[in-house]
Amino acid sequence: MDFQCPQPVIDALKKRVDAEIYGYCWHKTPTYLDAVSNWMKRRHGWEIDNEWIVFSPGIVPAIYMLVQTLTNVGEKVIVQPPVYYPFFSAVENNGRILLTNQLHYENKRYTFNFEDFEEKAKDPLTKMFILCSPHNPVGRVWTEKELRKLGDICLENDVIIISDEIHHDLILSGYKHTLFSTISDDFERSTIMCTAPSKTFNIAGLKTSNIIIPDEKMRESFINVISNRNSVMSPNAFGIVALIAAYNEGEEWLDQALKYIETNFKFLKEFVNEKLINIDFVDPEGTYLAWLDCNRLSMDDEELSNFMLKKAKVALDDGKIFGPGGEGFERINVGCPQSILKECMNRIVNALNEK
Ligand SMILES: Cc1ncc(COP(=O)(O)O)c(C=O)c1O
Repeated sequence: MDFQCPQPVIDALKKRVDAEIYGYCWHKTPTYLDAVSNWMKRRHGWEIDNEWIVFSPGIVPAIYMLVQTLTNVGEKVIVQPPVYYPFFSAVENNGRILLTNQLHYENKRYTFNFEDFEEKAKDPLTKMFILCSPHNPVGRVWTEKELRKLGDICLENDVIIISDEIHHDLILSGYKHTLFSTISDDFERSTIMCTAPSKTFNIAGLKTSNIIIPDEKMRESFINVISNRNSVMSPNAFGIVALIAAYNEGEEWLDQALKYIETNFKFLKEFVNEKLINIDFVDPEGTYLAWLDCNRLSMDDEELSNFMLKKAKVALDDGKIFGPGGEGFERINVGCPQSILKECMNRIVNALNEK
């Protein structure tokens, strides 16, 4: 996001800088672990044991290492494109086989394709499913009913769930995020929940995230890979203080940021509907990412990409990078001042008029 971080985070970091000593720091303190577990309880209604929390310098590296830990070369992993593209490389770069259960898109709305999911989960070589919840880039906040149906299929077929919930705090009014692990005790045991304050409070560059693994055996295996085999031990000194300040004192800032994001989405929707009649706005339910269906502009992916970057002079994320189903879409980050969003959209309108 282009928003200044919460003031308590800035203050805590300044104080840490003023300490003038930046040696190694340790996160396994009640202050750090309680900040994480209290946030999960307060904001998401999930009571966790502090022992379940495993530090990782990012969710993406954790997903790579979870694939290495819990699957073998040649085994299969399900993902649901169009989706956050590092999921693909986490599977393929590790010699595992990617199974794409493409989301169903109809009437500007995305849903799961359960039939195809079940077929893929039943394959004896399928060992893992990487869920994106809320979904980047399509903006869905999956309902408990949808998640339960997916989870039941996983449980029936012994498929481990990696639930990437990095956007779980960015929920628009009228929607409710359900932590996958809270659906039932069985879900909790079979799920590895990836979480971080990074998107929520705009501190992604501090590289501090937490992987919550209730199942002792899976947790031990992961710790063996992340700590013993890769020597990833503890966050940097600044990540620790930023996380504690953000989770303990950042709630008011988050509520304000969410209101602002919501007005940006409202502006964008009205703008697209009025001035960009050949582009469809997919209603977001969470995240700060808008997903625009540009297929009616009748440009192929290369033309669309060149048009946005070189003609309109706006740098968006081309839908095709998110895999099958992303073709012809563009993703826009609305976590920015509305003036920038306006300028961006006006550039697109002007470029289209000149075409
Ligand atoms: C779904 C999702 N997971 C993970 C990340 C990045 O995680 P990290 O920076 O902790 O590796 C992002 C960033 O955009 C994301 O959208």
